[in-house]
Amino acid sequence: MSPLNRKVVLASRPTGRPDDSNFTYLQEPVAPLEDGQVLVAVDLLGIDAFIRTTLDEGSFHRGARMGGVIPALGVGDVIDSRSTTIRVGDKVFGPLGSQTHAVMPAVALRKLDTDIAPANAWLGALGLTTGLTAYFGIVDVGRVKKGDTVVVSGAAGAVGSVAGQIARLSGADKVIGIAGGSHKTAFLVEELGFDAAIDYRHENVGARLDELAPNGIDVFFDNVGGEILDDVLMRIVEGSRIVICGAISQYEKMDEVRGPRNYLKLAERHATMEGFAVFHFAAHYARAENQLAEWYRNGDIVMREHIEHGVENFPAVMNMLMTGGHHGKLLLKVSSETV
Ligand SMILES: NC(=O)c1ccc[n+]([C@@H]2O[C@H](COP(=O)([O-])OP(=O)(O)OC[C@H]3O[C@@H](n4cnc5c(N)ncnc54)[C@H](OP(=O)(O)O)[C@@H]3O)[C@@H](O)[C@H]2O)c1
Repeated sequence: MSPLNRKVVLASRPTGRPDDSNFTYLQEPVAPLEDGQVLVAVDLLGIDAFIRTTLDEGSFHRGARMGGVIPALGVGDVIDSRSTTIRVGDKVFGPLGSQTHAVMPAVALRKLDTDIAPANAWLGALGLTTGLTAYFGIVDVGRVKKGDTVVVSGAAGAVGSVAGQIARLSGADKVIGIAGGSHKTAFLVEELGFDAAIDYRHENVGARLDELAPNGIDVFFDNVGGEILDDVLMRIVEGSRIVICGAISQYEKMDEVRGPRNYLKLAERHATMEGFAVFHFAAHYARAENQLAEWYRNGDIVMREHIEHGVENFPAVMNMLMTGGHHGKLLLKVSSETV
C-alpha cells in the first residue's frame, strides 16, 4: 500500500505577512512512480528566506503554484525507486517541498556523501543557500582580504552567521555583525567569534558603526537592505565592496521596494555595489564545497541549528524565519515526532 503524503499547499497568495488562510493542509496517497522517478521520505527541510518570495505572483525564484506544495530544499531517504542512478537507501538533497513524501525525477536530486558531512550539514554549513551563498558572497563578490573591516547584516541567521566566519577565515581584521536582540549579539561574539555586534532593534546603527569602525568599512555583506544599507553606505571607504546577498526587510512588500538613499557614496568613494545569486557561481560549486567541508571538519565554522517539528507547521516556521525567532540555520523536521 502506498504511504500517505502529508503536505501544505498554497491556497491564496499573501499580501504582507502570510497567515493560515493562505495555506491548506492535506493528506493523500502517494502516486505510483514512473520510469526515472524516485520516492523520497522527506526528513529535514531548510527554511530559507527565498521561500517567502516564491509566494508572490511572478517571483524571481520559480514561484509556488496555487494548490501546489511550497518550494523548499530538503534532505531525505529514498524509499522506492524506478531510477538507475538513485536507489532505495540513498540519502538525497533536492527541492523536496513542504511535504512528507516527494515523488521526484532522479535527475532533480543529488545523492549525498554522508562520509563528508551528515545530511543536515548539506542544508547548513555546506548548503547551497547557506554555506555556498556565504562563501561566494565573501570570497568572490566581496573579495575580502587581510586587514579588511567587514560588516554583515542579518548576521545571526543562516547565511549571515557563516559569512562572518568566512570573512574572518579570509583574513579580515575586524568582523562586525548586525542582528536583532542582545541574545543574538551575544551569540555572534561569544559563540561565533565576531569582534563586535550591533543590536539594530535597540541601538543606533550609525552611531555604533562610528564607534566600532572609526576608519570606515571595507566590505559590507548585506542580507537586509533598507535603513541598515543606508547607514553602512555613509561609512564606506575608498574602494569598498558592497555585496547585495539579499534584502529581507523588503520581502513582504516587494511592490514598494525603493533603492538606497545614500548610493552616491559609491561615486564619492569609487566603491562598488554588486548583487549575486548563488546559482551564478554554479561552475564553482566544487571549489566552495571542498573548502567549506575542510573548514566544517576542522571546526573552523560553527553552524547553530534551530529545529522545529511537523510539516503542518511549515507556514508558522516560515514566519518564524521572517521575524528572526531562530539562531543560525532554521530547519523543519517534517515528522511531528519530537523524539
Ligand atoms: N543571493 C543568494 O543567492 C541568496 C541565497 C540564500 C539566501 N540569500 C539571502 O540571505 C539572507 C538571509 O537568508 P537566510 O535564509 O539565511 O535567513 P536567516 O538569516 O536565517 O533569517 C532571516 C533573518 O533576517 C532578519 N530580519 C528579518 N527582517 C528583518 C528586518 N526588517 N531588518 C533586519 N533584519 C531582519 C531576522 O533576524 P533578526 O532577528 O536579526 O532581525 C532573521 O533571522 C536573505 O536576504 C536571503 O534572501 C541570498
